[in-house]
Amino acid sequence: MELSTPLAMTGGPWLLILCLAAGAVLQACAQPDSKGFISIDCGLSGKTGYMDDKTKISYSPDAGFIDVGTNHNISAKYMHTANSKHLHNLRSFAGMRNCYTLRSLVPGAKYIIRATFKYGNYDGLNRPPAFDLHVGVNYRHTVDITNPYEMEHVEVMIVVPDDFVQVCLVNTGAGAPYISSLDLRPLDRSLYPQVTAAQGLALAFRINFGPTDHTDIVRYPDDPHDRIWYPWLNDWTEISTTQKVYNSLGNNSFFMVPSAVLQTAVIPLNVSRNIKISWISRPTTMDPGRLGCIVILYFAELQVIPANAVRQMNVVLNDKPWYTTGFTPEYRYAAVTYNTLPFEYLIYELSIEATNNATLPPFINAAEIFFVFATTNLGTDSQDVSAITAIKAKYRVTKNWMGDPCVPKTMAWDSLTCSYTIDSRSRITSVNLSSSGLNGDISSYFTNLKAVQSLDLSNNNLIGSIPEALAQLPFLTVLDLSGNQLNGSIPSGLLKRIQEGSLKLIYGNNPNLCINGNSCQLHAKKNSKLALYIAVPAVLLVVIVLVAILLICLLKRKKQGSVDNSIMLQNETVTSHAIANHVADYSSLQRLESRRFTYKELEIITNNFQQVLGQGGFGYVYSGFLEDGAQVAVKLRSHSSNQGVKEFLAEAEILTRIHHMNLVSMVGYCMDGEYMALIYEYMPEGTLQEHIEGSNRNGACLSWPQRLRIALESAQGLEYLHKGCNPPIIHRDVKATNILLNSKLEARIADFGLSKAFNSNDTHVYTNTLVGTPGYVDPEYQATMQLTTKSDVYSFGIVLLELVTGKPAILREPEPINIISWARQRLAQGNIEAVVDERMGSDYDVNSVWKAADLALKCTAYSSMQRPTMTDMVAQLHECIELENAGDYANTGVYTSSSDNDPNMSYDAYPTDQSSIVRRNSTAFEMEHNLRRKTTMPTGPDAR
Ligand SMILES: *[C@@H]1O[C@H](CO)[C@@H](O)[C@H](O)[C@H]1NC(C)=O
Ligand SMILES: *[C@@H]1O[C@H](CO)[C@@H](O)[C@H](O)[C@H]1NC(C)=O
Ligand SMILES: *[C@@H]1O[C@H](CO)[C@@H](O)[C@H](O)[C@H]1NC(C)=O
Repeated sequence: MELSTPLAMTGGPWLLILCLAAGAVLQACAQPDSKGFISIDCGLSGKTGYMDDKTKISYSPDAGFIDVGTNHNISAKYMHTANSKHLHNLRSFAGMRNCYTLRSLVPGAKYIIRATFKYGNYDGLNRPPAFDLHVGVNYRHTVDITNPYEMEHVEVMIVVPDDFVQVCLVNTGAGAPYISSLDLRPLDRSLYPQVTAAQGLALAFRINFGPTDHTDIVRYPDDPHDRIWYPWLNDWTEISTTQKVYNSLGNNSFFMVPSAVLQTAVIPLNVSRNIKISWISRPTTMDPGRLGCIVILYFAELQVIPANAVRQMNVVLNDKPWYTTGFTPEYRYAAVTYNTLPFEYLIYELSIEATNNATLPPFINAAEIFFVFATTNLGTDSQDVSAITAIKAKYRVTKNWMGDPCVPKTMAWDSLTCSYTIDSRSRITSVNLSSSGLNGDISSYFTNLKAVQSLDLSNNNLIGSIPEALAQLPFLTVLDLSGNQLNGSIPSGLLKRIQEGSLKLIYGNNPNLCINGNSCQLHAKKNSKLALYIAVPAVLLVVIVLVAILLICLLKRKKQGSVDNSIMLQNETVTSHAIANHVADYSSLQRLESRRFTYKELEIITNNFQQVLGQGGFGYVYSGFLEDGAQVAVKLRSHSSNQGVKEFLAEAEILTRIHHMNLVSMVGYCMDGEYMALIYEYMPEGTLQEHIEGSNRNGACLSWPQRLRIALESAQGLEYLHKGCNPPIIHRDVKATNILLNSKLEARIADFGLSKAFNSNDTHVYTNTLVGTPGYVDPEYQATMQLTTKSDVYSFGIVLLELVTGKPAILREPEPINIISWARQRLAQGNIEAVVDERMGSDYDVNSVWKAADLALKCTAYSSMQRPTMTDMVAQLHECIELENAGDYANTGVYTSSSDNDPNMSYDAYPTDQSSIVRRNSTAFEMEHNLRRKTTMPTGPDAR
């Protein structure tokens, strides 16, 4: 036992470094705040966070931290028992193991991780589920709340071994897991010396004695580490001071308790009595691996003691006094008493007692009680984890790939084999992704799985060449690449390994693979230096792996060399001022120096600009191959281009800053003297325009479900620009030629050359140049020159109408008419068949098509006020998809469109949408009135 008078803390600079480290890597749209805090409001709708009124902590939605689960609001009946906004909603999970990944941490640093659970009858079942929470690979706790109004915090303090930590919710057969919020707070390394690499602390209680109102909670900003100090109400007498109470007299403080907590304390009501607190061990089934209990007690004298009085007290735990003679706390300086070796009892009875010599009663200011757990299990090797995570992202592997790949063994990922040893980290020893529908090239991340012995990628749709670097995997003995679309030749390094007999390579059934090394176009590039540019830091690569291409808007295979059909009603002059603004953005390009290509390298990539994919106002777009065989599209600015430096920079700047799976992204760029180029991943299915026209390669017609999915994905891309980015971005040129499709027909929005970012405080940007494409331009914008995100909504509505009708934005026959007027005329007669693309036959759900057409008309309402937002559109398109999925093709549903009542098609302000058939399970209205009840801790200490 030690009694220490804690002294000053030295955390400032460290915290700053952490913030910088954390800030630098995160995307513009999911950053931790400047304090290094991560605060996730789980289940928050939309893409934007908010600042909590009371704590001024910024909460983010889950996006970017987890990719499974559904959002729910707690039942209205329990709203009043949730005093923070983040308790109003939650995310629930249908899967077995569902993990949040908290990134950009400092390996070896200490953190508080806190998960909060409030059931609030969100599912209307009135039956709170029980499930397990895992933090990293060492802490497991059963969350088992029994009352809908209850809230539970589960908080641990740990040293994180890696630069990330995963928090997983695991279904144990007693209902779907859910979570209300998740917080991460950095802790100075000197704090809580009981927290080491070998053990962590799980909070049982953290009590601030004194306050008599249960809402009187101390946390951030009073506590810079955002520990939450709850009052414990009982029959005690409060003593307090308004003067600051100090933690520190030097630099010996391990706990740094806020003055606000220390300023209050309690003494027993009856002077002759003691302050007693008791608690029991939680059953080990709830906290397996628990090693015992740590008790930390805080004492600061708050009263000036008269000369003839004596305050002297002792701490007695389970009848064992901690001190032989007792101690006397100092006036307005906190003393802390705590154990370092854990106590192991079933029942803990703690008593703060006055000694025989004392004339004054004992008191206590605050207490923290923790259970200790071992953190000796090691997760999978971190290089293996980041490689397999990148592979999972690239190929969008679903399976059960959540949490740590190997640990615990019972939850190891399917298709992987791991090695387990006692004193070192698990390694991935084999990967079998045979017949898993993998598309694209062979990820260079496979070459980072340094312990892999067997790699089976057979029977997928892999393209590109075989990465030479696979030969560097020291333990690789079996490599099965058969049954793919690989090209190029077998790299010499692999051939050498085969000859040595250290590798078995199976490569049959790859029609384009050159087995004899002759006439292999791609092979010629093997020795180029481009590998350097591909070997960019891991974080960037993760981004790049997700890459899509740009600018096949220029690729459209329109004959007659049609130039870009964007209009510029006035010549936009690039003033030196405008250039200066963009020069500031060069810094973001510079950060990505590793993605910069020289003109010479472009020549190599494109084989001297041999194959033209398309042409646009900017210049030509060429096909090329990177060193690893990945096909790319290279958009080279021609000198005579009327699209200038400004658009080039705008696009490069936006694409380096934002990343979303429904936006094209950039592999690299070139700014070499007068040459400027942007390099994108190749999008094999071309533009949506080609598919609507039926001029795409195979001429196949998109089915209605495919069209809906493309609409939804495009809407998500735009929603991200409008809501997920700060400042929001208006695309300004949304059209079917700017929506590109990859081999899975997944949509990505392209061509950000005209995009404008605008300050979120402004509702619009005033532009002096009208840009856009005829047929897609928002008429209100055209009239007022005021640009808002609703202008993109308008253009999106046109695209949606094109998807429904298969017609272009402007119909030429018999006389030119805009698609909106064309569709409105027909829909006003209640005739959906007259507008639906006849190429779809009757293979669609009528309700779903009606709803989509109705949404498209709402998007194209003349007044931007009446148009929905892209967020509304994402939700509504989800409903269309549900209708389509639920729809029986007999079309028995009755559709009552708002347009039925209103042939003039004037639209109500969104979102008063009662048009679709409602197929929600409406939960019974809860009549019962519930009394306001106190939010309690799950198991409180008994006080007597
Ligand atoms: C929850 O409530 C908010 C605000 O009332 C609403 O915007 C959101 O859509 C609701 N979320 C769900 C999943 O119902
Ligand atoms: C109590 O006071 C007596 C007399 O002043 C002193 O001798 C004794 O050591 C004190 N005991 C404790 C526990 O402080
Ligand atoms: C990979 O899995 C497939 C199907 O389960 C199996 O046929 C094949 O033998 C496995 N490959 C290896 C290398 O074990």
